[in-house]
Amino acid sequence: MNKKIVEALNSDLALELSAITQYMWHHVMATGLESPHIQQKFKEISIVEMKHAEAIANRITYLGGTPTTKPAEIRVGGDLKKMIKDDLKGERIAIKQYTEHVRLCDEEGDFVTKRMLEKIIADEQEHDDFWSSVLDIKTLGEEGL
Ligand SMILES: [Fe+2]
Ligand SMILES: [Fe+2]
Repeated sequence: MNKKIVEALNSDLALELSAITQYMWHHVMATGLESPHIQQKFKEISIVEMKHAEAIANRITYLGGTPTTKPAEIRVGGDLKKMIKDDLKGERIAIKQYTEHVRLCDEEGDFVTKRMLEKIIADEQEHDDFWSSVLDIKTLGEEGL
C-alpha cells in the first residue's frame, strides 16, 4: 500500500465530506427573494461532492486503505452572501490541495489516481467559477474572501 497516496486521499475525502454537509445545510437554510436558484444550486453541488467522496473512498479501499468518516472544517450559517463566500473558500482550498496531490501522484507514478483527481479538479473549478461570478469575484488566486 502506498501510504502517502492513501493519506493524501483521506485528507481529500475529509474535504469532500465537509463540502457535502456544508452545501446541503446551505440548501436547507437559504432563504430570501434571491435564493431559489441558488438554493437549488447548493443541493446540486452537494450531490456532485458526494460523487467525489464516493470515487475517492473507492480508490482508498482499492489501494488497501480505510476511508475516513471524519469531515474537515464545516462552515455554515450567516446570510446568503456569507454562505456563498464560505463555499467558495472551500472550493479554493480543495483546488489547491488537489493540485498538490496530482503532483504527488506524478512523483509516485500513480496515474490512475492522478486521472481521478484531475477530473475532480475540473468540477471544483466549475464550482469556483460559478460562485465567483455570483459574487463578482475573479476566479482562482483571489485572496481575502
Ligand atoms: Fe468535490
Ligand atoms: Fe466543489
